[in-house]
This record gives sequence, C-alpha cells and structure tokens, in this order.
Amino acid sequence: MTDLATLELDLINAIGAATTVAEVEAVRVAALGKTGAISGLLKGMGAMSPEERREQGPVINGLRDRVTGAIAARKAELEAAELDARLAAEHVDLTLPARPRRKGGVHPTMQVMDEMIAVFAGMGFAVAEGPDIEDDFHNFTALNFPPKHPAREMHDTFFLQPDPETGERKVLRTHTSPVQVRTMMSQQPPIRIIAPGRTFRKDSDATHTPMFHQIEGLVIGKDIHMGHLKTTLKEFVARFFELDDVDARFRPHHFPFTEPSAEMDIRCDRPKPENGGKLVLNQGDDWLEILGCGMVHPNVLRSCGIDPDQWQGFAFGMGVDRLAMLKYGVADLRPMFEADVRWLAHYGFSAFAAPNPASGLS
Ligand code: PHE
Repeated sequence: MTDLATLELDLINAIGAATTVAEVEAVRVAALGKTGAISGLLKGMGAMSPEERREQGPVINGLRDRVTGAIAARKAELEAAELDARLAAEHVDLTLPARPRRKGGVHPTMQVMDEMIAVFAGMGFAVAEGPDIEDDFHNFTALNFPPKHPAREMHDTFFLQPDPETGERKVLRTHTSPVQVRTMMSQQPPIRIIAPGRTFRKDSDATHTPMFHQIEGLVIGKDIHMGHLKTTLKEFVARFFELDDVDARFRPHHFPFTEPSAEMDIRCDRPKPENGGKLVLNQGDDWLEILGCGMVHPNVLRSCGIDPDQWQGFAFGMGVDRLAMLKYGVADLRPMFEADVRWLAHYGFSAFAAPNPASGLS
C-alpha cells in the first residue's frame, strides 16, 4: 500500500472509532489542522515540478476531500446521537406539580402605617413628610427643647459630624415632630396633618431599635381644645383596632412642645395563658401606653410664626412598629429590621390587601 493509502486508512479508521464530537475534532486537527498530515502534503505540492503536481495534485486533493467528508458525516452522526440522548434524558414531565411561586409581602410596619393613614384620611387628615436628616432648629429649638434637654445629648441622639465651616451639627431626626414645624412654617392654619416616617434614637432592646417609625399628628384651628384631642384619638384607636369604643385614660406627662401634655393608655388584659396568650383590649386591670399627646405649646406656635392668641391646636405622636407588634402579635421588635425573608413570609401581608376602612383594615 502507498503511504497515502495507509494514511487515508488510518484516518478513516480513527474517524470511525471516534465516539464523541470532540474526538472527531481531534482527528480533524491531526489531519487538516495547521500542522496536520494532509495540510503538510498540500503544502508540499508547492515544491513539486509541474508534472509531479499534475499527477499528485488530484490524489492529494481527493484524499483531503474524502477525509473532510468522512469527518463531517461522523460529526453529524454523533451530534444527532448526542441530541437523541439529551432528549431522552431531559424530557419534560408535564404531570409534575408547578413549583410554588415566591410572593413578596408587605412588612407589618408598612401595613400598619397604611392602616393608620387610611383611618386618619377618613378623619380628614392629609399626609405631610419631611427629611430624615434634620437640623437642630426643626428637631429641637422650634419645638421648645431647652438647651440642656437630654435628647440634645450624644447618648440619646445620632448627630452627624459638624459642618467644618458653620459648626452646625445635623441630627437624624429623633421624632417626626419636626414635620409639624415645617408644616406650620409653610402653610396657613387651619391645619390637619399626619406625618408618618422613620425616626432614630440610640436605643436597642426587645422593644427599642435605633431606627423606628412614628406617626405624628397636628391639628391647628380656632378654639381647639383637649376635648377635640381626646375625641380624635379615641376615635382613631377604636377604628384602628376595629373596636366599637375604647376605654382610654389620659395620664399627665411632659413634652417640651405641648402644654398640657399627656400619655394615652388603653385598658387591657396582657397576654397570659388564660386569654390564649393574646393581648385583649378594653378588658382587665392593666393599661397599655400607646401614644404621647398634648396642646401645642404657645412657644412652638410663635417659633413657626403663628399667633397663639388666634390659633390653638393639639399634636400627638406614636410608634408605628410598636402598634404593629401589639396588633399582630410580634414579640420582639429587633427582627422587624433584620431583613430576614422567612420572618417576612410569616408576618408579612399580601400586597393586594390594601387597608381600607370600608372593607376592613387588615
Ligand atoms: N414627639 C414625641 C415623641 O417622640 C411624641 C409627641 C408628639 C408627643 C406630639 C406629643 C405631641 O415622643
């Protein structure tokens, strides 16, 4: 046998013996690649005499064409076999149940905030907003905080670095009350707003987190008095907890920005085995503090350019997260802000069940 015939036989055998596309490719490179055996023969034709080339040319080209054809045929065959194997292995079983879809949930704090907004909207309140980073004037001074009040100290409040030029220290607002200042300074009375938002204090235990949420309320009008405050807040609590009436008491308290000031408590039976471990409102001998409130201090009205002889009003503020805990039985405040989706899957609300006083809040 000639050398060429041997080479062809070897190549054809190797192609036939290849069991994967990659093996066929290896044979192709060995024969027809840059330094392949057939490529070498083709290159060698350049050095032949015209007679030699006339004789050898068709032989070498024929060899190349047959080998190329054999490679293509084997590749197609193996590709088809590989596809068949995949189709057999990966067939879709349409009888399998669909995978459950992961749905997002509304965080209880946001749900409760929406519930509160829905209740107050039904009572004629508009929503007002302000910045999380406040200045001393809006967070403290305009609200009648004395210079040495503890909230103005580093141990209670997050201060930003002082401005190198003015020395002014901004604060992460410690309450949503600065929004009442902003509203009174930009809007003529009568005013009836609520200010929901994030607030910050240096506090961390089972019922306090450094970031939490408040809703502040402010009503300014003519001849507004404590009676309006009490009725509004009792009505709010009744609607929020979906009760017919509330057994509430107003305990004297102190806030720099209200006078008189009070804390509102609701009669309750604390969770214990006899009542199924649930908090029961309007029953029992205990009292649950739910908010701070009072008549807006004349100094605050004056700071905001409102004449206290003409206008009076009341304000109140409450913790949204705490009310969410109470209403929906969350035991510890801290996991509420740990962004654990398992927690949210348990306590979260459907995004389609938007609170609405007509159809029920939750
Ligand atoms: N700003 C008060 C607080 O954060 C709550 C409050 C608001 C009290 C308005 C009275 C009136 O504790």
